[in-house]
Amino acid sequence: MDTKVLIIGSQGQIGTELTAYLTARYGAANVIESDIQQKNPSPCTFVALDATDKNAVYELVKKENIDTVYLLAAMLSATGEKFPDKAWALNMNTLFICLDLAKEKHIKKLYWPSSIAVFGPTTPRVLTPQFTVCEPTTVYGISKQAGERWCEWYHNKFGVDVRSIRYPGLISYTAPPGGGTTDYAVDIFHKALQQGSYECFLGPQTELPMMYMPDAIRATVELTEAEADKVKIRSGYNLAAFSFTPEQLAAEIRKHIPTFEIQYKPDFRQQIADNWPASIDDSVAREHWGWKPEYSLPQMCSDMILHLQEQYAL
Ligand code: SER
Repeated sequence: MDTKVLIIGSQGQIGTELTAYLTARYGAANVIESDIQQKNPSPCTFVALDATDKNAVYELVKKENIDTVYLLAAMLSATGEKFPDKAWALNMNTLFICLDLAKEKHIKKLYWPSSIAVFGPTTPRVLTPQFTVCEPTTVYGISKQAGERWCEWYHNKFGVDVRSIRYPGLISYTAPPGGGTTDYAVDIFHKALQQGSYECFLGPQTELPMMYMPDAIRATVELTEAEADKVKIRSGYNLAAFSFTPEQLAAEIRKHIPTFEIQYKPDFRQQIADNWPASIDDSVAREHWGWKPEYSLPQMCSDMILHLQEQYAL
């Protein structure tokens, strides 16, 4: 495939898996990954990059002849509440740098992740529609909603080819997530295998939309590679796979680890979760560019446990 991509924020939860996927797909010579520092070994070329340094981003894009940027650097919902100005600066400045790169035609395409955090307490919680009230209550959600508006504006005004997905909570076994409200759904697997019990920071009935990482990565690349005329929404696409509560996830884990125990100790993240949807209507993404999830909750659970058992040599 004739493309050269740069992944910014490549060492995070999504970035790690997207880098591996794109390297396998396009070849190591066509993928550059970048992050503030390298934590994990790279399957392609790694470049240390401060994504808020406009000149550094421009120079790397020019030097490497990049045509597509995946901008994944961001501060997530829970950390964002603790460091609101840093979250706003990181999440917005990096987006403007990349939108301007595209506006000035240094790159052809930009992928930028949005989130279910764009929704808020006034949004319909069940099967949240694509077009609905978005009154986010977290700094992270405000940055994602504002970002969506800016993406659409750059597209309408300057023809910028930007694409985005409103990810639900993402579950994976490689790089851990950091600072999100949905992170319990990853941590629970590690603790289940290592300790046989987990203390959950959300209450038992807190239902949230979730997705297994292989589906999220496939969706990301499918949307980014889709013909431009199919991508009719330039803010962010709703995307869904399954929803569950901590209690339901614990029951599913018990099918593999019957002695697994869970305790509940909700903290400030409970309020964030309570303002997010319980389930998402993704029919528009299905119709526009053919999105379809593969993994169900039981399939995700089996796969997570299998891989983590290998990692922990159990
Ligand atoms: N998973 C993210 C978080 O919990 C939402 O996009 O912050």
